[in-house]
Amino acid sequence: MINNDFHLQPTKTHPVFCHCSKAVENVIFIFYKHKMQQNHFNVSGKEIKFRTIESDDENRWLNFLDNCSQESIYSRFQAFFRYNSHEVAHRFCCLNNQKEIAIVAEVKEAEETIIIGVGRLIADPYHKNAEFAILIADNWQNKEIGSHLTNYCIEIAKQWEIEKLQVFTSSDNLRIIKMFKKRGFQVFYDHTIADVVLEKEL
Ligand SMILES: CC(C)(COP(=O)(O)OP(=O)(O)OC[C@H]1O[C@@H](n2cnc3c(N)ncnc32)[C@H](O)[C@@H]1OP(=O)(O)O)[C@@H](O)C(=O)NCCC(=O)NCCS
Repeated sequence: MINNDFHLQPTKTHPVFCHCSKAVENVIFIFYKHKMQQNHFNVSGKEIKFRTIESDDENRWLNFLDNCSQESIYSRFQAFFRYNSHEVAHRFCCLNNQKEIAIVAEVKEAEETIIIGVGRLIADPYHKNAEFAILIADNWQNKEIGSHLTNYCIEIAKQWEIEKLQVFTSSDNLRIIKMFKKRGFQVFYDHTIADVVLEKEL
């Protein structure tokens, strides 16, 4: 189902308009032409919505990481990531959309909207290859949110005219390897970058 209510409104003040390169115009085009697949769906009776991350998400992003286990954070960042500072939150929320797009999955809980997942695409300087990484808060794992968010971000990468998408992970992250093999990604073992590189020509 194609949804027509993506929150990104056609206003010149939206951060995505800060860098109007072809790549960013493509992102805007994606949202306006509604070529994306469904951007909200229900899990256990709650509506989960996907949207681009914004600069005022810093506190929500920090709370999101507080809701992730050390294991999940390690799997995502390949390190015991010290995220708890304004500088780090700023780096991960205030993006140059020429280079990086992050999509959050959010849900309303007790009158508050919280982030429960983030999928992130980072393009190389030539805008040919992009790296994808994803993290879902532990309490929200195993509910298909990661699968939906992955599909959504792959679609964005295609519309963003990325030629090759890569995912870096460790060889023990069988789940993510399985998820991407299922989506046609090839598996390479490269110990200089990460244990495993999953990649696909889009
Ligand atoms: C990996 C991750 C994103 C998956 O998100 P999720 O919302 O929990 O996953 P889903 O419920 O959509 O399930 C994804 C797939 O895993 C399968 N799966 C579920 N539980 C599993 C388990 N315990 N072991 C292996 N596969 C499992 C599901 O069947 C599904 O497979 P499908 O695509 O064939 O349907 C999430 O677990 C996470 O954030 N992990 C920590 C961070 C990380 O590892 N990131 C990847 C590195 S970039």
